[in-house]
Amino acid sequence: SAAEKDGYDWFMRKEIHEQPRAVADALLGRHTESGALKLDEVRISDEDLREIDKIIIIACGTSNYAAMVAKYAIEHWTRIACEVELSHEFRYRDPILTRNTLVVAISQSGETADTLMAIRYAREQKSKVLAICNTNGSTIPRESDAVIYTHAGPEIGVASTKGFVTQLIACYLLGLFLAQVRGTRFGDEIRDVVEELAKLPGHLQRQLDESASVLDLAKTLADAKSVLFLGRHAGFPVALEGALKLKELAYIHAEGFAAGELKHGPIALIEQDLPVFCVVPPRGRDQLHDKMVSAIQEIRARGARTIVLAEEGDDDVAPYADVLLPLPVVPTLLQPVVAAIPLQLFACELATLMGHDVDQPRNLAKSVTVE
Ligand code: G6P
Repeated sequence: SAAEKDGYDWFMRKEIHEQPRAVADALLGRHTESGALKLDEVRISDEDLREIDKIIIIACGTSNYAAMVAKYAIEHWTRIACEVELSHEFRYRDPILTRNTLVVAISQSGETADTLMAIRYAREQKSKVLAICNTNGSTIPRESDAVIYTHAGPEIGVASTKGFVTQLIACYLLGLFLAQVRGTRFGDEIRDVVEELAKLPGHLQRQLDESASVLDLAKTLADAKSVLFLGRHAGFPVALEGALKLKELAYIHAEGFAAGELKHGPIALIEQDLPVFCVVPPRGRDQLHDKMVSAIQEIRARGARTIVLAEEGDDDVAPYADVLLPLPVVPTLLQPVVAAIPLQLFACELATLMGHDVDQPRNLAKSVTVE
C-alpha cells in the first residue's frame, strides 16, 4: 500500500531515499570518537586475522559489484591479496583455500543458494567465512564464522539500492579494521577515512534533494536501444552496477566497461547519439582522472552522447559532457557510494516512465534460493 511506501510510488524509490539513514546506521557504533574501528562482531581472533594471507570475496548480482569495489579498498589498506569471484564460479572451479584464507560472502538476503553452497564448500576446506549481510538470522550468516550486518532495514524492491550502498560501507569498515589489527595503516590514516565515511549521509541527502536533473535526463532517454557505462578503478564496478540496473528495471540493453578497455574493443560500438554514462575518478595525484577525461573526449569525437558523473567543480571534464551530473567531493575509494545514487535514480525513473513494474521486474526474484 501507499502507506507502507511512505507516499512513494515504489518501494525502490523509498529505499533510494532511505540511504542517508541506512549509511548512518551502518556506521553506528562501529568506531570510537577518535576514529578507531570497533568491530566486536567479527568474532575471529586478532591472531587469526593476522595469519590471513588471502581474501576471496564471493557474491552474486549487485552484491558482486560491492565485492569488486571492496577489492580496491581492502588491498590498498591491508596489503592482503584479495580476489573477487561470483559464488557459482568459485564453488565449481576447485579454488585454492587454506586455513589462512578469509572468505567474505556478501549477500543482502542471506539466502542466495549459490553463495550458501560456496561458503559451505569453503568451510569444509577449513577456511574462515565472514558474511556481510542485511538480514538478521538468515542462513548465510548462521553458517558463517562471523557476520557484519549492514543495518539497511528490509529491502523490498528487487533491484538492490540501500542494500548495495551499505554493503560498501561494511566492506570499508572491514578493510579498515583489518588494517588496524594488522598494523598496515596507522591511527590517523584510519581516522581520516572514518571522518570521510561519517560525511556520507550528508552528501547523499544533498544528492537526493538535488536530483531533478537526473529525473529530467530519464525523459530524454526513454527510447534508447542501448546504453553504455564506463568507469575505471573503483568506478568500474559502479559502471557495471549502472548497466545492471538498466537491464533489470528498464529491460534496455546496457553494458559496463572499464574505460581503459575501450580501445581494445568496445570503442567499435560507439556511434552517433549512443548514450554513454562516464564515471570520472576524483581529481587526484594519480593519472586516473586525466585518462578518463581523454576517454570521454574520444567517444564524444565519435558522436556519443556523454553523460558524465564527476566531482563538482571538475572543470577539466565539463566541456566534454553533454549532460553533467555533479558528485560530492569524496576520496577515490569512497566515490562508488555517491556515484551509485544518480544511476539508481535514473534507472528507477526511466523504468517508471516506460510503465514497468519497478519493484518486481519481469523474470527476477528478490532472492534466488535455488542453485
Ligand atoms: C538476485 C536479485 C539481485 C541480487 C542478487 C544477489 O538475483 O535479483 O538484485 O543482487 O540476487 O542477492 P543477495 O541477496 O545474495 O545479495
